Amino acid sequence: MSRQHTYDKATWSGRTMPIWEKSFPVLGKGMLLFNIKRDKPFYIAVCNKEGDGIAETTIMLAVGKNGASFCTQQGSIVSSMNNIGYEPSKIVTYWYSYDSDNMTVKYGKGYCMEETTLLKYTFTDESDRAKYFDPAKRRVVKLFNSNPLEPHRSSLRSTKIERSTLVDVEKEIMFSPYPFMCNRPPFVRDSSLSNLFDIDLGKYTYSSSLPEACQDLYENVKGINMSLDYGEKEYKLTDAIRHSIEDENGLLHKTLEKKKDEFGSDDQIYLRITLGKNFGNSPGTPYVLEIWPKKCGSPIHNHGNSCAVIRVLHGGLTISIYNKNTTDKSAKPLKEFDVVKDDVTWIAPNWYQTHKLWNKTDDFCATIQCYQYGDKDDIHWPFFDYLDSKSHTVDVFAPNSDFPFTEMYNIVMKEYEEAMAGKKTNM
Ligand SMILES: [Fe+2]
Repeated sequence: MSRQHTYDKATWSGRTMPIWEKSFPVLGKGMLLFNIKRDKPFYIAVCNKEGDGIAETTIMLAVGKNGASFCTQQGSIVSSMNNIGYEPSKIVTYWYSYDSDNMTVKYGKGYCMEETTLLKYTFTDESDRAKYFDPAKRRVVKLFNSNPLEPHRSSLRSTKIERSTLVDVEKEIMFSPYPFMCNRPPFVRDSSLSNLFDIDLGKYTYSSSLPEACQDLYENVKGINMSLDYGEKEYKLTDAIRHSIEDENGLLHKTLEKKKDEFGSDDQIYLRITLGKNFGNSPGTPYVLEIWPKKCGSPIHNHGNSCAVIRVLHGGLTISIYNKNTTDKSAKPLKEFDVVKDDVTWIAPNWYQTHKLWNKTDDFCATIQCYQYGDKDDIHWPFFDYLDSKSHTVDVFAPNSDFPFTEMYNIVMKEYEEAMAGKKTNM
C-alpha cells in the first residue's frame, strides 16, 4: 500500500453523475455492502450530503481491475495493486467501512472481518475531522461508474450506457449502522460467567451479545443435561455410538458406508441425527446431533445465511473458516480453531458462515447443531451450499436426517447391550 499521485484541483465533474446514492442511516458512520457483479471499475464516494464543497469532503474508494485505492480530492491516500480489484463475472460483496470516531476507512471483499480487510487508512491530522468526519453532518454514499474526482473523463453518452448496467443494484445494497472495527470471537461463553480478565482479553462472545436467533438456540442447549450420557443407564450412549461406528454390522457403520459418496469424497462424511420438529423457522430440523467419525469431516459449505449454535458433546473438531463464495476446495482458510467437549461456537450471516468441520482426533466427535433463520432474513434459504469434491462445483444440500434421535438411540444401545452380554457369556 502506498501514497500515489495528486489530482490537479479536481472537483466533481458535472457530467459524472452517480448511478446510485443514499445517506448513511446513522449520522456520521456505518458500513455499506454492495453485493454485485462488476466487470469494470467502480467508485464509491462518501461525502457530505448538502452544502458547498462536496468534493472537498469526499473520501472515495476506487476499485479497478487489479487494485483499489482510497482517494480524496488531493489524490490517492492509500492503494494496493495486490489483486484486490473487482472480480469479473462473479457476484462479490464489496464493502466500505466508514468510522468517523476513529477517522478510519476500510475496504474488503466477502464477509467483514479482519482477515478480509484489503485496504485501510486512518487519518491522523485532527483538521481532517472537520473536513471528512464532521459528526454533525449527514454523510451520503454515491456509486459511480467513472471517477467523479477526475474532470473531463465521462460523457453524457457513456453515462447513459453505464446507468443502465446497474439499474437493479439497489436491492443488492445493504447498510450496517456500525463500521467494521474488529472480529467477534467465535467462542461463546455464558454471560453469567463473564469476568474482568476474559472481557479484557476479548476471548469470548458472551451469550447476551449473540444475535437474537443464536441466543434462543444457545439457551436451549447450554444446560448440564445436554449430554450424550444423560440419565442413569447401565451403559453410556458414548460407548454405544463408538461401538456402532466401529462394528461392521453396526447401524452407524452401515449408514456411514452408504453415505460415502454424498459429498464426492470418502472422508467427507458424517451422520445427521435429527431431534424434534421443524417449526418453519430453520433450514431443516433446528436441532441436529451430528456424529463425526475419526479422520472425517464436511466439505466447505455455508448455512444459507442462517444463524446457528454448535456445542461439542464429545471429542473435538477443527473448524476452518472461509470467505463468502469460496469456490476452491484447496482455498486457504481465513481462520482455524479447535473445539473440544463443551465448547460452544456460533454462526451468523456475517460471522463464521462458511466453514469446514473436520475431526482430526482418534475418536468420534458428537456435536449438537442448532439452526434458526435470523430476524432480518427475508429469504429463508432452506439449503446449505457446499463444494462438491468430485465435480468441483458449488452444489446445494437439503438438510436431511439419517435417523430421528430416539430411533438411533434405541438401536445403538441395543447393539451395545448385546455386544456386552456376548462378551460376558464368553468370559
Ligand atoms: Fe456447517
